[in-house]
Amino acid sequence: MFFGGTNIDTIRYPNSLVHMSVATAFPTPVRKFSNNPVVAFYQSSIGKKIVVAVTGLCLMLFVLGHLLGNLQIYLGEEQLNSYSQHLQDLGPLLWIVRIALLAIVVIHIISTIQLAIQNRIANPQKYAVAGYQRSTRASRTMVITGLIVLCFIIFHLLHYTFQVTHPEFRDLHDAQGRHDVYHMMITGFKEPLISFFYALGLFLLASHISHGFQSMTQTFGINNRKVSELIFNGGRAFSWFVFIGYVSIPMTILLGIVK
Ligand code: HEM
Repeated sequence: MFFGGTNIDTIRYPNSLVHMSVATAFPTPVRKFSNNPVVAFYQSSIGKKIVVAVTGLCLMLFVLGHLLGNLQIYLGEEQLNSYSQHLQDLGPLLWIVRIALLAIVVIHIISTIQLAIQNRIANPQKYAVAGYQRSTRASRTMVITGLIVLCFIIFHLLHYTFQVTHPEFRDLHDAQGRHDVYHMMITGFKEPLISFFYALGLFLLASHISHGFQSMTQTFGINNRKVSELIFNGGRAFSWFVFIGYVSIPMTILLGIVK
């Protein structure tokens, strides 16, 4: 900064510190970027943020699709079991979708963790600025809720997809010889402990999605107040829809409304 013709940053310091500024007092490690544009994009913070946002968006679409599939429980046993059978009949296509979904989850987690590490290295002077402190807390909450949601999903897969926790689910078949997903859900959610565990996992998932929507608006550089408010409210409405939609299933079963 120049003041009265003199560079104010260079006065009063001994020679060795003449060029010292706030930036050099907390030196940021110099990162080397690859010559490959795709790798270089991923190496940058914004590149990773975009990868996190896009994979997050794909996972939200899955969450919505899976919810709409599961809500068919309210249309009765025939509807839910035939929907589930249709999915199974997709054969190799179903496996392609499953592998793609798994890859998306892995990329989402790895890029989030790498981003958190990169931010920590780039900002060693912790909490110097109030806004930075706030955003650090928000991203830490995202990492924690994300990891708990991951544990919930692993349990969910062991419960209903691989039926490891309840091998007796494998023997459930309806009159047409299809896997009886309807009665698997009824039997599964009749256990209060399991239903409340799902409710907790789903609440954290909804909170993760709600925060994810806010981060996405920042990542995509949406500064317009009206648009970002719309996305923020849309994100909250979507998260509540996801929470209420999913949690209604174990709760209505537990209350004996669906049987
Ligand atoms: C009350 C909530 C939920 C219910 C009742 C439910 C129900 C089910 C059922 C019955 C299956 C096995 C389908 C079959 O064998 O035909 C399944 C699979 C699965 N669920 Fe859920 N789900 C719930 C929540 C979630 C959530 C919140 C997620 C992810 C965020 C999720 C992710 C998955 C995945 C990845 C599979 C494996 C799909 C596959 O193998 O093709 N589920 N779910």
